[in-house]
Amino acid sequence: MKPKVFLTRELPKKAMERLFEHTELEYNKKDRVLSKEEIIAGIQGKDALLCLLTDTIDAEIMDANPNLKIITNYAVGFNNIDVEAATKRGIPVTNTPGVLTDTSADMAFTLLVATARRIVEGDQYLRSGQWTGWGPLQFLGADIFGATLGIIGLGRIGKAVAKRGKGFDMNIIYWNRTRLTESEEQELGLTYASLEEVLKQADFVSLNVAYTEQTFHLMSDKEFDLMKETAIVINTARGPVIDEKALVRALQAKKIAAAGLDVYEEEPKVTPELLEMENCVLLPHLASATIGTRTKMGMIAIDNLLAKFDGKQLPNLINKI
Ligand code: DGY
Repeated sequence: MKPKVFLTRELPKKAMERLFEHTELEYNKKDRVLSKEEIIAGIQGKDALLCLLTDTIDAEIMDANPNLKIITNYAVGFNNIDVEAATKRGIPVTNTPGVLTDTSADMAFTLLVATARRIVEGDQYLRSGQWTGWGPLQFLGADIFGATLGIIGLGRIGKAVAKRGKGFDMNIIYWNRTRLTESEEQELGLTYASLEEVLKQADFVSLNVAYTEQTFHLMSDKEFDLMKETAIVINTARGPVIDEKALVRALQAKKIAAAGLDVYEEEPKVTPELLEMENCVLLPHLASATIGTRTKMGMIAIDNLLAKFDGKQLPNLINKI
């Protein structure tokens, strides 16, 4: 008997083919986020929910189908799911770690380069027909080589960002809840500093923490005040790690130089002032958006799902049931 699965939005082709082969699949064919009511309707009579980071999965949804045997998230982040409520109900929750590490680190670095070297502004200037030739003062940016990269959160993605920084001859300092061992620090060529020191010393601050109650508004007025006026902040973690209003204040008061953002406090809404600022590069949450990675994320979500119904250990179980 194939498990009955509800998928909240279409995934890349290979993942869909595998789902069709191994499950009895119903999925959202409209290319948009479903409402809570639509998710509740979708999971009726299903064994499993395969959801996305844009779906808020709370106790009410879980209670709408007491036979739900697994919630498998198509993302490494799982702040969209009330994991505690799932645990109380004995529902395993899984995520898709590992496969998006390098793709996300590539994007953090892309934002760093684009912001420092004013790539988007230059492109728009040229396309709008304003360019009349090379000029010594045109779009002067910040050097990346030799600059100090401060990484906040040194998990898998933070370490992959550090590797990229090394390739660009940057000095790398980091802050993490748990410090690496001395030999790990030496191997990666990283220097540990307090959060305050990282903010004070870094020319670029890359946020790579997981989003938890502790990291909510980790960056607010006080933290932006500590940063250099020439510094650039990059966020590819989760929007609420930055107090977006404080970021606007810091940019308006020129307390920091620029921001490169892939995530926002209330996606898909973006604080309107940011949209007006030329020194911000703003992407629509694209960090993991490559065909290869999004396909692999699908495969991992399906591995988790099928393991449940094959009676195997779940490869990426978040909660202890
Ligand atoms: C994740 O998986 O948490 C990423 O944000 C997806 O882009």
